[in-house]
Amino acid sequence: MTGCDRIVELRSDNSAGVSEEILDAVGRANSGGAAAYGADEWTERARRRVAEVFERSDVSVFPVVSGTAANAIALATLCPPWGAVLCHDSAHVLQSECAATSMFSGGATIRGIPGDGWKTTPDAVEAAFRTTRWGDPHHSQPTVLSLTNPTDMGTVYSPDEIAALAETAATRGLRVHLDGARLANAIVTLGCSPAEVTWRAGVDVVSLGATKNGALSTDAIVSFDRTLDEQLTFRLKRAGHVPSKMRFQSAQIEAYLTDDLWLRLAGAANRTARALADGLGHLGVQLAATPQANMVFANIAAATADVIEAAGVHFHRAGGPGTVRFVTSFATTDEDITLALSRVAAAVRA
Ligand SMILES: Cc1ncc(COP(=O)(O)O)c(C=O)c1O
Repeated sequence: MTGCDRIVELRSDNSAGVSEEILDAVGRANSGGAAAYGADEWTERARRRVAEVFERSDVSVFPVVSGTAANAIALATLCPPWGAVLCHDSAHVLQSECAATSMFSGGATIRGIPGDGWKTTPDAVEAAFRTTRWGDPHHSQPTVLSLTNPTDMGTVYSPDEIAALAETAATRGLRVHLDGARLANAIVTLGCSPAEVTWRAGVDVVSLGATKNGALSTDAIVSFDRTLDEQLTFRLKRAGHVPSKMRFQSAQIEAYLTDDLWLRLAGAANRTARALADGLGHLGVQLAATPQANMVFANIAAATADVIEAAGVHFHRAGGPGTVRFVTSFATTDEDITLALSRVAAAVRA
């Protein structure tokens, strides 16, 4: 394809393909028979990799096929039917998962709380506590705090921010869940260890994303609390989330976490997002948020967005009226960014 007719894919990291390393690992796993339903050597090796990377020998790992499954089943495990999950107003679990958590938990509510920069704060959690009628059977009882890192708008919580939130949550006995659909992107930005931004900061269970960052078809529930194992095991089976050929998902997780592949892929996506954001800034396009991961939200009038789209840059209109969302992935190249910026420049000029 020439520069003129080449499509620049910036709709979502879900629209990207699969990293070669992960595809190769799936191919290598395709040799002979293996025990089904996770009793295979790939699944054991994936668990050991997660244990190494998160510096916790007692970690439990449950591969699932989507981030929604990881979130909903993890939260249902942490939250009784009469419970409430507190999360930021913008959180994917509240806005974009069709109340899967409520279904899998047998009725728990998901309660949005505010916070600037799409991140919630200890003050917002305390305010939610103050407006809870604790012990009143007419009112859902907050049981879990769910954080998303990076947030759905691409901002990032630091380990200290997570620790402060977990401390506040603990004052009322809430457990902490982390939606890490793009956790690798946050870790690269923070330059911290996976342990620091999760269990050392007080997180009990992580939805570990991989598909958005180069895997083929797997995310995983990573639990730092072995007492949840039995519930997770049975809930996953009842939800249809124990794939018989789990070795192919586990092979992806193993490859993803080997030799820092997940961080290299996320680093590439973060770098092109930064280049895009800088380039948009030079063109005078206002950003709706300072990008800290692989998402760039820009204020672009609908008519201009139409022109950019017609020129072959794919993106989503998301984040509010007059806002468009560009998402880079491990597969986004410098040429993609140059081409996208030249098309935005032409549209802005027009
Ligand atoms: C922050 C976040 N969490 C969870 C999900 C859900 O992932 P899936 O689409 O694989 O169910 C998404 C999907 O875009 C997401 O952006």
